Amino acid sequence: FAFTPENQAWAETQITKFPKGRQASAIIPLLWRAQEQEGWLTRPAIEHVAAMLDMAYMRAMEVATFYFMFQLQPVGSVAHIQVCGTTSCMICGAEDLIAVCRDKIAKKPFQPGADGKLSWEEVECLGACANAPMAQIGKDYYEDLTAERFAEILDELAAGKVPTPGPQQGRFASEPAMGLT
Ligand code: FES
Repeated sequence: FAFTPENQAWAETQITKFPKGRQASAIIPLLWRAQEQEGWLTRPAIEHVAAMLDMAYMRAMEVATFYFMFQLQPVGSVAHIQVCGTTSCMICGAEDLIAVCRDKIAKKPFQPGADGKLSWEEVECLGACANAPMAQIGKDYYEDLTAERFAEILDELAAGKVPTPGPQQGRFASEPAMGLT
C-alpha cells in the first residue's frame, strides 16, 4: 500500500498538527483517508499508517477495530450502508430498513450485492435518535426514513446518484415538539 502523492502530502500535514511525540494522535484521519482511497482498510494500509506514526501495527489495529466507521473487509464499491438497529431506531422501524437491505443488496451483512455496488450492516446508535429510524451512508446521515424512501435511496445510489442527506420527511430535530414552545 502507498498513499497517492496527494494523500501522502495531506497525511504528512496532518501529522505536523500534533505536538512532537504525539504523532499517533493523527491515526483516525489517516486511517480514514486510507479507507477513502482503497474503499476499505487493508492490512498493508494499516501497516503503512502505523509506520508513518511510529506506532506498532497492533496499536493501529486496536483503533481500526474499535470504530465501526472503519471497514476491515471489502464493501460495496459505491457505498456501504450502516443501518442503526439500537432502541429508538428499532422501535421506529429499523427492521423494515434491514429488510430493504436484504431484499435490494444481499441477504447477509458485508456481502456486496450481485453488482458489487452496495453492501450493508446493522450498527449501534449513531446519535441521531430523535430522527429515528436512520442510516449512515459514507459521511452522511439519512433520517426519518420509511422503508419506501430508503428503497428509493438505495436505487439512487446504485444508479450513481447522490441522494439528498438529512431528514427525509422535512422534519428537523431542533424543531420543538408540538405544545412545548
Ligand atoms: Fe438509532 Fe440512536 S438509536 S440513532
